[in-house]
This record gives sequence, structure tokens and C-alpha cells, in this order.
Amino acid sequence: MLAAVMTAHESADATLAVPVSVRDLLPRDLPACTWSGSGIHLRHVERELGRAAAGEVDYLAVCTPVDLPVAIGGVDYQVSEGAGTLWQLAVLPALQSRGLGTLLVRAAEQRIRNRGLRRAELAVEENNPRARALYERLGYTAYGRKPDAWDQEGPDGLIRRYETMCVLMRRDL
Ligand SMILES: CC(C)(COP(=O)(O)OP(=O)(O)OC[C@H]1O[C@@H](n2cnc3c(N)ncnc32)[C@H](O)[C@@H]1OP(=O)(O)O)[C@@H](O)C(=O)NCCC(=O)NCCS
Repeated sequence: MLAAVMTAHESADATLAVPVSVRDLLPRDLPACTWSGSGIHLRHVERELGRAAAGEVDYLAVCTPVDLPVAIGGVDYQVSEGAGTLWQLAVLPALQSRGLGTLLVRAAEQRIRNRGLRRAELAVEENNPRARALYERLGYTAYGRKPDAWDQEGPDGLIRRYETMCVLMRRDL
């Protein structure tokens, strides 16, 4: 159901309440996920979908009623013994701060429980305090730090190595 509420006579302002659902991200979704990162990032996600087919990871999508992904993120079961590791969480920028990230994290935690595991872990960049605050609100606590690095495609199309420091967080499920 989709509800549009006109807030005043003749006004173009409106509030939309749109139901969303969580399912596995599929290769056919990738062209609709360009908001989540560069071409290099999407090729990486495509490779991870191969690992999802092999059962090594779950990769989730929160979708609108017309089945468009507005939030995506994965759970890797091969990073840490006895835990699922949340990674690559991203919400469509225009729809951030509306609870989609929370929904995605909770759905990922349910996938971890479904595999008989009782711990969720993640790494968040030290320079991303907003995301860290969200994870703390959701019950995650910091237990260490770890450097990380990955290739990034700049606006000029050049690929550069990006190095960063992450806070490691976890939550018992
Ligand atoms: C980090 C990220 C995944 C969080 O997703 P999100 O959908 O914005 O998260 P939520 O809406 O669930 O919660 C975040 C905020 O919304 C608020 N919020 C949650 N539900 C809300 C609602 N129904 N109405 C209004 N605000 C709400 C929270 O209090 C929180 O406040 P903040 O905006 O001051 O931080 C998202 O912002 C994102 O994609 N960021 C860019 C990529 C990134 O940093 N990824 C994380 C890598 S570790």
C-alpha cells in the first residue's frame, strides 16, 4: 500500500509511506544499485553474489513495492569463526536516516541466527562516526581497531588505493 498525504491546499509537499521488504540481492539488481558505489564497487558486489550462491555469504536487499533495491549489504561467514560479519552496508542517499539501515542490520542478524551462529561483527571506519553511532544504538560494542585498504575509482576514472583505520564492533545475538 502506498499512501500520499497532501499537507495543504495546492501544495506540492507530500509524505509518502512505502512498504519495503528484504530479500536476497540478485545479479539482475546490480544496474539499479549504482547509487551504492563506483563501477569497481559494483563489480566487487557481483563477485560476492557468486560467493552468495555458494553459501559463503548472504547479500541482502531492502526493496520497494516495485522491487527496486534502496538498501543493500552483506554478511560474510568466512571472516570470523562462529560469527557473521556485516559489511558493505549502504542505503540510497536520499532515503538515509529513515530506518532502512536499522532494518538491514536486523535482517542480517536474523540470517546469522538462522545459521545457528550467535555473534554479529562489523568494522566501521574511524572517520564515519554517524555509522558507528548507529551500530552502538543497535547494541554493538567496540573491541579493537584494524587497518583496511581497498581500490577506489575517482571521478577522473583513475583507480587509487584507499587506506583507512576501522573500529571493530560486535554484538551477541
Ligand atoms: C550508515 C548507513 C548504512 C545507515 O543507514 P540509515 O538508513 O541512514 O540508518 P537509520 O536510518 O536506520 O539510522 C540512522 C539515523 O536515522 C535515525 N532514524 C532511524 N529511524 C528513523 C525514523 N523512522 N525517522 C527518522 N529518523 C530515524 C537514527 O536515529 C539515526 O540518526 P542519525 O541520522 O542522526 O545518525 C547509511 O547512512 C549509509 O549508507 N551511509 C553511507 C555508507 C556507509 O557509511 N556505510 C556504513 C559502512 S560501515
